[in-house]
Amino acid sequence: MDLLNYYQLTSSSSLIRGSLIFKMNFRESFLLFFFSFILLFLVQCTSGYKTNNVKPTSRVHKLSRKVFPDDFIFGTAASAYQVEGEALKGGRGPSIWDEFVKIPGLIPYNATGDVTVDEYHHFKEDIDIMKEYNFDAYRFSISWSRIFPNGTGDINWEGVDYYNRLIDRLILKGITPYVNLYHYDLPLTLQNEYLGWLSPKIVDAFADYADFCFERYGDRVKNWFTFNEPRVAAAMGYDTGFHAPGRATGSRFGGNSTIEPYIVAHNLILSHAAAVNRYREKYQIDQQGKIGILLDFVWYEPHTYSERDKVAAQRAIDFHIGWFLHPLTYGYYPKSIQDIVKERLPEFTNDEVELVKRSYDYLGVNQYTAYYIKDNATINPEPISYQDDWHVEFKCETHAIISFLLMLYLIKKIVNNIICMDQPGNVTLPQGLQDTQRRHFYQNYIMELKRAIDDGASVIGYFAWSLLDNFEWRLGYTSRFGIVYIDFKDNKRYPKESARWFKKILQRS
Ligand SMILES: *[C@@H]1O[C@H](CO)[C@@H](O)[C@H](O)[C@H]1NC(C)=O
Ligand SMILES: *[C@@H]1O[C@H](CO)[C@@H](O)[C@H](O)[C@H]1NC(C)=O
Ligand SMILES: *[C@@H]1O[C@H](CO)[C@@H](O)[C@H](O)[C@H]1NC(C)=O
Ligand SMILES: *[C@@H]1O[C@H](CO)[C@@H](O)[C@H](O)[C@H]1NC(C)=O
Repeated sequence: MDLLNYYQLTSSSSLIRGSLIFKMNFRESFLLFFFSFILLFLVQCTSGYKTNNVKPTSRVHKLSRKVFPDDFIFGTAASAYQVEGEALKGGRGPSIWDEFVKIPGLIPYNATGDVTVDEYHHFKEDIDIMKEYNFDAYRFSISWSRIFPNGTGDINWEGVDYYNRLIDRLILKGITPYVNLYHYDLPLTLQNEYLGWLSPKIVDAFADYADFCFERYGDRVKNWFTFNEPRVAAAMGYDTGFHAPGRATGSRFGGNSTIEPYIVAHNLILSHAAAVNRYREKYQIDQQGKIGILLDFVWYEPHTYSERDKVAAQRAIDFHIGWFLHPLTYGYYPKSIQDIVKERLPEFTNDEVELVKRSYDYLGVNQYTAYYIKDNATINPEPISYQDDWHVEFKCETHAIISFLLMLYLIKKIVNNIICMDQPGNVTLPQGLQDTQRRHFYQNYIMELKRAIDDGASVIGYFAWSLLDNFEWRLGYTSRFGIVYIDFKDNKRYPKESARWFKKILQRS
């Protein structure tokens, strides 16, 4: 029985971001064991901000915290490099992104995350905003190289202390920390020493870093994630070269897109499993926390009713979602990937299968969008890349309808998510504050989420991406995903209409 065959997903495509956490019973016969899943929901559409016309439904006025289960969590999310700033200070070592952004012309306006929205110095203010706007939780990531400037060895206690202050402040204000250990930001030293994720040496390095975080922060942090979107790290970093470290066939940084993405994914999976194993063996009983992973989801529907297109859509799901979720659940890669990638696909040893299998207590899913998929009849005799291995054609009808909630329903148990929509970076403050489209999206999404819960999906929470406008990787500051507007000249925070909407629906009576 294939977990991924349960999914049915439709979605209205547009620039939407957020995360959803849910629980799921993916094998009823299996010890009645329930995994909880965190679902991070991100929907993105190439055609831009204005194309999607999301209207609130008439049911929306009924929306409030009260219609959700009592312990349902509403939070916001961010990542270290995107919001912290203080990147070249405070004893932090560089990550592969600090190096990557230096390439002239790579990022619009040559922007970097050196300062970004300076949460390093504004965290109290940001936590006050979370509190004032009635959120329950904050998902942030720890910058590995802020703690271990060289990835391993020497500890930067100033960095260790920053996260202590952040965590303590969150707890003081009643905001639950959800801590992610890795969001694209590998310490540069490990890239330079042994090509980072391409080397099996990375597994112990990551597990040691994770272990240190569990030991230091686990008395207060009860919700952990190992990785945010490891597939993106593998595919964008090593197949297309769009993200750091920019490796791909023909790239000036080296690389081989037929083989490196698979090696990197394999080492990411083993690193995740090793960290989870440390947590479970050394800390979980005492600390009583949960650990999981955040994966990026795109849904694929067959373009026609033909058997070939159906198989192709499932294959796309396998390559996109199953590449990670299948081994993390069952201990092996999906059969379609094994059949196509053959000897280029690394294998798990028997011991590794045992470690990797069921290596999450909950799962985060970042949902972007959906595509129609056609079987590609023209198959290259020689492999070219991970993406080419899918053997599909993308059909990008803009009104692809994604019934994400149907998927949740079919999975049966879902958690927590936030969604917002992108705005161009150069909107003025008055324009920026009036993010009506984003508010409409949230209204509709959270309403449907509520209906899915009513239908039996055990969703435990929902995290909006993101609290603040911030450094959006290759887009620099030209794309605004926050529910709080940032004036990048002085880093002042201005809550938008969407934030005020959250405040209203999230108020406790
Ligand atoms: C980015 O940096 C390069 C090299 O210094 C320069 O030629 C280019 O004009 C810069 N771009 C912008 C938008 O400032
Ligand atoms: C990439 O790696 C494969 C498998 O090792 C090899 O056959 C191929 O020649 C390499 N391609 C390039 C461009 O180096
Ligand atoms: C189908 O696969 C071939 C061979 O890899 C590739 O060149 C072509 O671009 C693919 N077609 C589409 C529409 O993606
Ligand atoms: C904002 O940026 C977009 C492209 O990024 C550009 O087309 C538009 O003219 C800019 N608007 C203003 C007011 O500068």
